[in-house]
Amino acid sequence: MKFAIASDHRGVKLKSRLVQMLSDHGHDVQDFGPTSEESVDYPDFAVKVSKAVSCKGAERGILICGTGLGMCITANKFRGVRAALCFDEVTAEMSRRHNDANVLCMSADLISEQLIARITEIFAQTEFEGGRHARRIEKIADVESSSDCCGS
Ligand code: RB5
Repeated sequence: MKFAIASDHRGVKLKSRLVQMLSDHGHDVQDFGPTSEESVDYPDFAVKVSKAVSCKGAERGILICGTGLGMCITANKFRGVRAALCFDEVTAEMSRRHNDANVLCMSADLISEQLIARITEIFAQTEFEGGRHARRIEKIADVESSSDCCGS
């Protein structure tokens, strides 16, 4: 699978390990940075991954910052992006099975490195269930295309 990945300064070490892990598992991984622990602004990096997913340059995205929150908020501004903040095995699995999440956001500060690796594996392996969940995803897309006008 083709992945796009990025972090801010807080997630940069974990990002390198995930790039290695996903590559070892046979995935094609594009690393959008950063490359050092120098302080950066998370939206700048969330935008790179979200654009890649939105424009179909990548099938899935991964974003890591201190809490995962800023990355998730930014990513969900992009058309077609369904970003999920996952913090355990259940949220990782359900984000795929029910929400067809295509961007995984995680906290570098609040969960262990081992759990981050496990969540990423689940996110990569779990299929969307479709059925009634597909109808709900279509409704999200409808909201996306009609939400530019306040009051509608
Ligand atoms: C950076 O200090 C921090 O705000 C960022 O990593 C993230 O937690 C934002 O949501």
